[in-house]
Amino acid sequence: MEIEVCNLETERLLLRKLNMSDLEDYIEFRSNADLHKFLSTKPKDNVKDYKKSLKSIVKSYISKAPRLIWAIIFKDKNKLVGTISIENYLCAHKLCELGWSVNVNYQGKGIASEAGHALINHLFGNCDINRIYASIWQGNEASKKLALKLGFMHEGTDRQARFKNGKFLDVLNFGLLKTEWETLNKNKKM
Ligand SMILES: CC(C)(COP(=O)(O)OP(=O)(O)OC[C@H]1O[C@@H](n2cnc3c(N)ncnc32)[C@H](O)[C@@H]1OP(=O)(O)O)[C@@H](O)C(=O)NCCC(=O)NCCS
Repeated sequence: MEIEVCNLETERLLLRKLNMSDLEDYIEFRSNADLHKFLSTKPKDNVKDYKKSLKSIVKSYISKAPRLIWAIIFKDKNKLVGTISIENYLCAHKLCELGWSVNVNYQGKGIASEAGHALINHLFGNCDINRIYASIWQGNEASKKLALKLGFMHEGTDRQARFKNGKFLDVLNFGLLKTEWETLNKNKKM
């Protein structure tokens, strides 16, 4: 089954495709070095590079790229405050990886929890996905807490699987199965 970046709405957020009018917010969001502490990315050198990066995301919506990126829009301010993405989608195995990032100035407000919950509901509810996983670098407490809050389970650790700033870091593997998500939802309704 093909998965597309469609609009998903929650109480405070709209998840939608990015477009070029998000550029200013995109730069604000991606240019803070703290955002990249546990990512393999780093801030870009200039506005031109951010424009190129945003353009390639916008282009990816028509080229059926293996990576699907949703903008997280804070509805009250009509502002891009982060992204949530599907990576490594394996249709035959009904599984995908989730990646999440929120503008440093908007972190700790439950935005990733709200966006993650909406996308997971969509993937299990409408997209024939059976397993979602997240790969979280050692030390990324916020991301670990988020994964656990969303119902993921720590399944194992790839030791010294990443190298950043002269140090090897473990990668923690978190996974969530559709059956577990169904049980979580059932318990919530009781
Ligand atoms: C991980 C990230 C997306 C979380 O976004 P967020 O919108 O701040 O998350 P939420 O506000 O929904 O919080 C989720 C949980 O993490 C906790 N949390 C948030 N920031 C935290 C921090 N710095 N340290 C410890 N826990 C933290 C929250 O308290 C919450 O748990 P709780 O509801 O039990 O209190 C954000 O920190 C981020 O963008 N980090 C940089 C990019 C990154 O590392 N992405 C992940 C790659 S695997």
